[in-house]
Amino acid sequence: MSLPLETTIDPTLCDGCALCASVCPAEIISVQGDTARVTGPADRCLHCAHCAAVCPPGAVTVPSATQAALGLATVSQSPSTAPLPSTASLVRLMAGRRSCRAYRDKPVSRALLEDLVRIGITAPSGTNSQRWTFTLLPGRRAMERFGALTARFFSQLNFVVRFAPVRLAARLVSGDTLELYYREYYERVQEALDEWRRTGRDLLFHGAPAAIFIGSRPGGTTPKEDALLAAQNILLAAETMGLGTCLVGYAVEALAADPRIKREMGIPKEERVHAVIAVGYPKVPWKRPAGRRLVTPRLWEG
Ligand SMILES: Cc1cc2nc3c(=O)[nH]c(=O)nc-3n(C[C@H](O)[C@H](O)[C@H](O)COP(=O)(O)O)c2cc1C
Repeated sequence: MSLPLETTIDPTLCDGCALCASVCPAEIISVQGDTARVTGPADRCLHCAHCAAVCPPGAVTVPSATQAALGLATVSQSPSTAPLPSTASLVRLMAGRRSCRAYRDKPVSRALLEDLVRIGITAPSGTNSQRWTFTLLPGRRAMERFGALTARFFSQLNFVVRFAPVRLAARLVSGDTLELYYREYYERVQEALDEWRRTGRDLLFHGAPAAIFIGSRPGGTTPKEDALLAAQNILLAAETMGLGTCLVGYAVEALAADPRIKREMGIPKEERVHAVIAVGYPKVPWKRPAGRRLVTPRLWEG
């Protein structure tokens, strides 16, 4: 679905430098005489606003792209005037981020969570579709309620997956997924469920006081990739705010497999949730960055 063409070029400001035309991915801008004009088909516009971003006199306006201009409530400095981090400090941030599984008993303000969403949506998205959705769980009550919905799903799954004929039948319909789950996850999920019932210990979110769900509405070209790119933005930005985060794949699986969960949370059934991020203040600060197995990139020189 394409948005109506809204890009306008003010001829009194435009000096015909053609920079806008040179960066337009849809090639719908051309310079006629000494003024740039939108001359191509309206439905090709991606609303990426690259044209506005390069225009020296600021003659180009793309309303759909400025609606979401970053205004961060919890960050005093304007992002547009903040100095860029060096490569070294950026890599230090990336390598220093670790998954947090021990949180302090301190709530995360809604303003911070909303800022993280605004930071998330600076990510690229396929054909600039931006069809992501965000659901905030702002406190332990919501986290525990969601935990119970997830536990209900995994309890039922574990009940049926124990039976070999069930796994065999599932194999015929949906391949190896259930067998793989049984081999890799059944036991540790069962242990986590038993412990949760016995002691109330939260092994899903590890006691995090808040969460951000990132999903997609239908119509995007690359919904999962878009959501995961927004997720990485959020993980890194949270780190700079002194917050700890952890992606929670088990929650994503439960949301995908059990439509009752979305229904009970008021998430429309046509939405898909691709990432669930636990957020909170870490109990223990990391002293050293992550070690990673070294990879050797393949070189293909044509
Ligand atoms: C898609 C995805 C799903 C994940 N799901 C979980 C999860 O359900 N529970 C959890 O504790 N960690 C989860 N993690 C965190 C990984 O275990 C973690 O990123 C990995 O061990 C590397 O550690 P680091 O993030 O501290 O560098 C997930 C990570 C990814 C990328």
